[in-house]
Amino acid sequence: MFPIGVFDSGYGGLTVLRSFKKALPEYDFIYLGDNARTPYGNRSFETVYEYTLECVNHLFNMGCRLVILACNTASAKALRTIQQNDLPKIDSSRRVLGVIRPTAEIIGKMTHTGTVGVFATAGTVQSESYIIEIAKAWPKITVVQEACPMWVPLIENNEYNKPGADYFVQQHMLQLLQKAPELDTILLGCTHYPLLIEKIKQFAPQGTTIIAQGDIVAESLVDYLKRHPEMESQCSKNGTMQFYTTDDTANFNAHASAFFGSEVQSTFLHL
Ligand code: DGL
Repeated sequence: MFPIGVFDSGYGGLTVLRSFKKALPEYDFIYLGDNARTPYGNRSFETVYEYTLECVNHLFNMGCRLVILACNTASAKALRTIQQNDLPKIDSSRRVLGVIRPTAEIIGKMTHTGTVGVFATAGTVQSESYIIEIAKAWPKITVVQEACPMWVPLIENNEYNKPGADYFVQQHMLQLLQKAPELDTILLGCTHYPLLIEKIKQFAPQGTTIIAQGDIVAESLVDYLKRHPEMESQCSKNGTMQFYTTDDTANFNAHASAFFGSEVQSTFLHL
């Protein structure tokens, strides 16, 4: 029996874990935030892949057989290589899943105009993963993207609800709308961005649907476990949550509750 592993470059994946807890309260989870090396958003494919694989291996070593990359940047830049090249070598019965495909699969149900905007890190935008995955599921939908490299540092440094953040939110909203004024749906394609949702709503045209992906990914995990009883039956169910960080635990505990919604006690993981 094993806990489900959840990985992010830092705190962002806690917004997804929060939805997992709501949807699957009886399951055990281990969260790993690579705070020592965050943010991943501006790093190269090779670096994001190398860091993500290292963290996935740590979660495997802690006993996880199913790991969710609750990070769009890692899902965009590392997931496919890990699934295709590494898992067969490590243990082909283990699974690593991401957040981009489940989000892309439901996006078509949200838009009426057929044009969707995506805010994400530079790495996710550059990978074009959302454009590719949405085109597979919804070929008629137009996707415009906007990279917001300042948003993760603003969020990680507790500036997300301060007036200084307004400039960066408004600037990227204007740039996104310039690319497609007809868009009616905006996807927050970075697991940190839900903390900025109030400001994003404030600067979005009235009536725009803003989508955070936590509940979507949680629903998709519920569905995955239903479709894979061989994996589901091995998941331990004591309703526990363990938190690991690759950096200072006191700092992690102080920041994490804004993302997770309740207090967190973390353990240091040496890389
Ligand atoms: N939370 C990560 C994501 O969803 C990005 C944060 C980072 O840049 O490390 O893309």
